Amino acid sequence: MCGIVGYVGPRQATPILVGGLRRLEYRGYDSAGLAVLDPRTGKLGISRSVGKLVELERALERQPLPGHVGIGHTRWATHGRPSEANAHPHSVNGVAVVHNGIFENYLELKRRLQAAGREFSSETDTEIVAHLIDEALGAGAPTLVEALRVALSQVVGAYALVVVSERHPDEIVAAKNASPLVIGLGNGEMFLASDVPAMLEHTRDVVFLEEGEVVELRAAGFKLSNLAGAPITRPSRRILWDAVQAEKNGYPHFMLKEIHEQPRAIADTLRGRLQPETSDVDLDGYELDPRSLRRVVLVACGTSFHAGLIGKFMIESLARVPCEVDLASEFRYRDPVIGPNDLLIAISQSGETADTLAAVKEARAHGCRVLAISNVVDSAIPRISEATVYTHAGPEIGVASTKCFTAQLAALALIAIHMGRRSGHLKAPEAARLITELAAIPARMTTALSALGDLKDVAARYRDARDFLFIGRGTSFPIALEGALKLKEISYIHAEGYAAGEMKHGPIALVDDGVPVVVLAPRGPHYDKIISNLVQVRARNGRVIAVGTEGDTQLADMAECVLWVPDVSPLMQPFLTVLPLQIMSYAIAVARGNDVDQPRNLAKSVTVE
Ligand code: M6R
Repeated sequence: MCGIVGYVGPRQATPILVGGLRRLEYRGYDSAGLAVLDPRTGKLGISRSVGKLVELERALERQPLPGHVGIGHTRWATHGRPSEANAHPHSVNGVAVVHNGIFENYLELKRRLQAAGREFSSETDTEIVAHLIDEALGAGAPTLVEALRVALSQVVGAYALVVVSERHPDEIVAAKNASPLVIGLGNGEMFLASDVPAMLEHTRDVVFLEEGEVVELRAAGFKLSNLAGAPITRPSRRILWDAVQAEKNGYPHFMLKEIHEQPRAIADTLRGRLQPETSDVDLDGYELDPRSLRRVVLVACGTSFHAGLIGKFMIESLARVPCEVDLASEFRYRDPVIGPNDLLIAISQSGETADTLAAVKEARAHGCRVLAISNVVDSAIPRISEATVYTHAGPEIGVASTKCFTAQLAALALIAIHMGRRSGHLKAPEAARLITELAAIPARMTTALSALGDLKDVAARYRDARDFLFIGRGTSFPIALEGALKLKEISYIHAEGYAAGEMKHGPIALVDDGVPVVVLAPRGPHYDKIISNLVQVRARNGRVIAVGTEGDTQLADMAECVLWVPDVSPLMQPFLTVLPLQIMSYAIAVARGNDVDQPRNLAKSVTVE
């Protein structure tokens, strides 16, 4: 995710802003920039560079930005590729803005502003806000904060938005909705950032902004209010985390932080794409009509492959287009039968995985259409694909993929609904129901995460097991595979995922009182069958850990331990059933003293074969 910093006070802003951005480097970014108000000229100085912060520092050496009021940003591309023109700050007539988040209605606003004669110099959604604020100031808004309010009344979406203006040179104004923003209190100086680590070397006294709040920051202090202008008072908090804890937002590991970021990752991935008014999904303007397709082939590796297996269920059931799922490493060498009437969907959070990239090249060589799903804008796979549905999970630092997996599921659900509407199979009322259910998934995940807790007791019970089995049916089968992968990669316990119906064809021979068997048994069409499998495991003294739907009293009596998730329809269950497996794997790995974020022998991005 992008990083934001701001400073107003007696010191030179540039070194403080660059230092703050450096503290946010761990989050990943593709470009960076600063805007500082020069007190000698009253003008804004702006510097932006693609690549690492060192590039920005070189630019600042060539052209220093003196001044005591400034804002800075590291960008992780969402709208528009990484480039200097798309890097923040964006400025219009002496108003400069930096933004984290996504404005859903930016195209509509951009069209209106263009019709009014305004010109744009970037592909971003952010630039519209600089225009809206400039427009409001031009129309007589008496203060910068008033102009910000006028602009915010027109936008829909998520934002942490920070503004400086030549017309109001002693202040910074900012607003928050869904993306974090925190004020740092200094002595005669004030700081602002998207994350605490950015200002920890200057202050530990902070005030977190809440949803729909606006702040005016001057060297002497800050004024907090709501969108309607009513003042808000909130005492500051003292941050006791050290710098490393602060990077993890207080969590002990990035993996745990990322597990808890999933509701936000899904909400951001859905944002602006669900169209409840037309019971449809907008894939950022990309039109995918499945009536011209012979079939869909999903290719990916590891966790992304498991997302692909669930994508098959989604696309086949909603669009009725035949789907195959293949491991990219197999697909590239098996001389696949594909051609111009097939669509390859390549799923890769990094967008750089060598096998998936090679599979895309192979498909393209056969004239096959290619749609990518990736978390990294302009990475190698999107660059050679016809289009990309980006997940907006933000950078994932833990090697074990968690939030990128569920964000991929969200992208696949969007694609399936979009295709279903165009195939004619998915009628408007059912699409409307799915859209409503999908939009509610982030809240369901939040509920599930807080109800599950840390699962330390489960970890203490099972941490010494030598082998684990995970079994499921339907969409729970890929979740069984994903649960087993998560456990083995960070706890180093041998684990296998199986389709539950396969148990009697071999794996049941492994079951005894030393093998925990995780049975995915949410309520749904496969419930009775999976309960039969569970009973068979118990009959062989297997230790059953069940994942079940809240309120299922029958299940509570049948397992040694039950991990509960909220009730949702079968296609949506993977968003929730994977959560206890992620937390359990994490808790077991921690209990075994492993390096959770960087497990042995593994890399985050596998760019070699
Ligand atoms: O970046 P990708 O999604 O293409 O990566 C694919 C796999 O390497 C990745 O999912 C890997 O299996 C993770 N370590 C799983 O947690």
